[in-house]
Amino acid sequence: MFGARCLLLALRPCSSAPCPKPAQAAKLRVREALGAQEVNRDIKVQGWVRSVRSQKEVLFLHINDGSSLESLQVVADPTLEHRDLTFGSAVEVQGKLVKSLHRMQNVELKAENIRVVGPCDTLMFPFKPRERQPLEYSRQFPHLRCRTNTLSSLLRVRSEATAAIHSFFKTSNKVQEPGENSHFFNVPAFLTVSGQLHLEVMAGAFTQVFTFGPTFRAENSQSRRHLAEFYMVEAEMSFTESLQDIIQVMEDLFKTVTSIVLSKCPQDVELFHKYVSPAQKGRLEQMLKNKFITISYTEAVEILKRAPQTFTFQPKWGSDLQTEHEKYLVKHCSEIPVFVVNYPYDLKPFYMRDNEDGPQRTVAAVDLLVPGIGELCGGSLREERPHFLQSRLARLGLADAYQWYLDLRQFGSAPHGGFGMGFERYLQCILGVDNIKDVIPFPRFPHSCLL
Ligand code: 4AD
Ligand code: MG
Repeated sequence: MFGARCLLLALRPCSSAPCPKPAQAAKLRVREALGAQEVNRDIKVQGWVRSVRSQKEVLFLHINDGSSLESLQVVADPTLEHRDLTFGSAVEVQGKLVKSLHRMQNVELKAENIRVVGPCDTLMFPFKPRERQPLEYSRQFPHLRCRTNTLSSLLRVRSEATAAIHSFFKTSNKVQEPGENSHFFNVPAFLTVSGQLHLEVMAGAFTQVFTFGPTFRAENSQSRRHLAEFYMVEAEMSFTESLQDIIQVMEDLFKTVTSIVLSKCPQDVELFHKYVSPAQKGRLEQMLKNKFITISYTEAVEILKRAPQTFTFQPKWGSDLQTEHEKYLVKHCSEIPVFVVNYPYDLKPFYMRDNEDGPQRTVAAVDLLVPGIGELCGGSLREERPHFLQSRLARLGLADAYQWYLDLRQFGSAPHGGFGMGFERYLQCILGVDNIKDVIPFPRFPHSCLL
């Protein structure tokens, strides 16, 4: 009935009322156009030219708008060619979406009108058509590299992984970050190195909380796995007395988010597995199909001491595990991710729970080590017993500063624990990217803040 009335309105002859304008071509994203079931209709596409091929009879263009790795082929009459229609220019193409006769694509756009919205100086533009540049080269152009296939694929993976992480935890919990300006708060305040302590506050009223946001560290490291600004996912769970519960959430998070990313953007992941790190596909399958392994820190040191290779840092009980050690341990475990639990008390922060296996010998800490990277996640049970916490804070001279933290243990305190996962290291791990600077659009690290 509604449809019939619309038809009548449409058929009514023009009188004094203005005539309805002819239907405008629907604006489609490239991804929508490529997957369109309905063809032979007028559409408009906006994006950037990835290739121009001019033949005597026909002009071919490929247009990409960031919605997919694949570009849309445009077929046009050579009369539509324009000197500004070059690689990299921003264009708007209007025409008919038709079935393509080519094997490589389902549809193509027969252009009726091509408008160059923004020309591109191809001589100065640092990227050239059909050239696959090393990641180090693109890194010099943080303001332009998202125009390359590799970075645009990375950004789509980042976006899907972010959504998958939020959906994994199902609930959002916004943790207020303190600013760094002492005048603003009237007391010295610092950019957070982790949202954990705030999450612990929240865990006093919500049994499961998480946060996912930027984290800042003044780490003086130029390594391929450290940034001064990175993203961390952190979760905190109340009424948890076993490290195993935390380990389970870490493993589930990794496997669930990775499966979603693989199903949502297979082509983007494939680009990395094909061109950036050919061995990574098999490695990732191995990670997803096997149950992660758990070993204690003490066992880890024994394994390292028996290793046939020599390390730069001699493995020794009581010393931190170095990246070389972490990588060896994962190799020893057949490239299956490995949880290392129960670290020495003296190596870990005050909030980690004393295992009481000797006088201040180990704490209920866990690190997840993954192939190629080393540490991906770090977490622990938190010390919920006021007298343990009080005496440790007093020894460190921090009792006053952390009175509020001690307070949490006085008012309905429940055993709890949690962990943090470095988001960039996660992306490195699933995609096989060697340098952390290539999995974040604007990497900031010591002595470098290009953008
Ligand atoms: O092990 P971390 O330092 O743990 C914490 O900050 C805890 N408060 C988390 C918690 O229990 N809620 O950091 C967690 C993870 C590391 O395992 C690593 O993946 C990543 O964050 N990370 C970094 N990633 C890039 N650059 C850096 N400088 C990083 N430092 C830590
Ligand atoms: Mg750590």
